[in-house]
Amino acid sequence: MKYDRAAAARTKVPGTLTAVPSPPRPAGRARKVVRTAADLAINGAPALFDEATHVGRPNIGNAERFLARAREILDSRWLSNNGPMVVEFEKRVMAKLGVKHCVAMCNGTIALEIATRALELRGEVIVPSYTFVATAHALQWQEITPIFADIDPVTQNLDPDAVRRMITPRTTGIVGVHLWGRGAPCAELREVASVNNLKLMFDASHGFGCSLGGTPLGNFGDCEVFSFHATKFFNTFEGGAVVTNDDRLAEKMRLMRNFGFHGYDHVIYPGTNGKMTEIAAAMGLTNLEELDDFVAINKANYDAYRAEIGPLRGLAMLEFDEKERNNYQYIVLEVSPEFPLARDKVVEALHAENVLARKYFWPGCHNMEPYRSYYPHAGLVLPNTKRVAERVVVLPTGTAMQVDDIRAIASVLRVLALCRTA
Ligand SMILES: Cc1ncc(COP(=O)(O)O)c(C=O)c1O
Repeated sequence: MKYDRAAAARTKVPGTLTAVPSPPRPAGRARKVVRTAADLAINGAPALFDEATHVGRPNIGNAERFLARAREILDSRWLSNNGPMVVEFEKRVMAKLGVKHCVAMCNGTIALEIATRALELRGEVIVPSYTFVATAHALQWQEITPIFADIDPVTQNLDPDAVRRMITPRTTGIVGVHLWGRGAPCAELREVASVNNLKLMFDASHGFGCSLGGTPLGNFGDCEVFSFHATKFFNTFEGGAVVTNDDRLAEKMRLMRNFGFHGYDHVIYPGTNGKMTEIAAAMGLTNLEELDDFVAINKANYDAYRAEIGPLRGLAMLEFDEKERNNYQYIVLEVSPEFPLARDKVVEALHAENVLARKYFWPGCHNMEPYRSYYPHAGLVLPNTKRVAERVVVLPTGTAMQVDDIRAIASVLRVLALCRTA
C-alpha cells in the first residue's frame, strides 16, 4: 500500500484509534551474503552493513499524528502536570492491560523507586541479579539492600526456591522481573510472599503487551512497573508507569509523583517529581496506535531468526510461548560450549559486520558497583546467573530490521558455526 501523508495528516487525532497507514519499511540493507570464512569482516572482508544495526533502534509510529498532537500541546500551553495527553495515555494503558490504575511517570527507574516507597519496602528486598541494573539501583538509592537470588537456567526468570533461600528476618519484599517479556513465575512468587508476609512487585519493563496464563502482565503482584524508554519496542521517548489494581496504592503513588501535592498549596505526603510530560504522552498515544504493527514486525523477525538459527548446533534461541501474547522485542541467543566460538568472539565477529549485538545484563548486577564491593561473595549462590550472563547475546530486531537483513546476519552465524578455532 502506498503511504498517503496528506490523508494521514487529515485524520482526526484526539480520542480516535483509527488505523493510519505507516510509511513502508525500507528495503533490506545487507551488502553481502556470507558463505565462507573469507567473507567475514573479521577476516578482512567489507562489513555486512554500512551503518550500525542496533538491538533496540526506536520504533516510531505515525509521525504526522505525533506532530498533530505536538501542535495541540503547544497551542494549549499545557506541557506537564497531568495534562490531557497524560490522562488519555493512562486511560488507554488501563484499557489495554485491563488494570484499574495506571500512574504514568517520567521513566521506569523513578517508577520503580516510587512503587518501592509506596509499598513501604525497607531492610532487604529480593531481586534477580540477572536484570538491568536499574532494578537493583532503585532499591539501593533508597538505602534498601537488594539481595540477589538466582534464576531458573531455562526460563532465565527468578527461581522461587532460590528466593525462599534468601529470606531473612529483614526481608520485606520481592521484586520479580518478567525477563525478555516472558512472565515470571508469579503464582509461585505470590505463594512465597504470602507465606512470609512479604510485598510482591514486578519490574515489567520488558513485558508491555505480554500475558501470563492469558492475563496481561500488569495484573500481578501488588503493582507492576513498565519502562517506556526509547529502546523499548513501545516508547514514549523516556517514560514509565506503575499499574495496579489497588486503589490506595495508586492514590499514594499519584501523590508521590507530584511532590505530595493534594490540590493547590496542600502537601500531605513526601514526594518527588516523577511526572510524565505531555509530549511523552503524545508519543505514547501515537505509538500505542501502531503497537500491533510493531508486534507483527517483531514476530516476523523472530520467525525469520528462528528458521535460520534453529538448526545451528550450540546456538539456542530463546522461545516465546505461542499460547501467550508476546511482544517479541528481544532476540536472545545462548551460545553454549558446543559452539566453536565463545560468546564474546561471536559478539566481536558481529560487531565487525556492523551488527551491534549485545551481551545483555552481563556480568550480572552482583558484579557491578556498589554490590560487587558490598557483597563480594554473592556469586557463590548465583551459578545459573553466571552461566546465562556468560552465554547470552541479543541480536537486532524491531521496525528498522528487514527479514533480508536477518537472513544476512544469520549467514554470519552459520559460517561462524563452521569455524574451528575457539
Ligand atoms: C528490566 C529493566 N528495569 C528497569 C529499566 C529502567 O527503565 P528506564 O530506562 O525507563 O528508567 C529498564 C530499562 O531501561 C529495564 O530493562
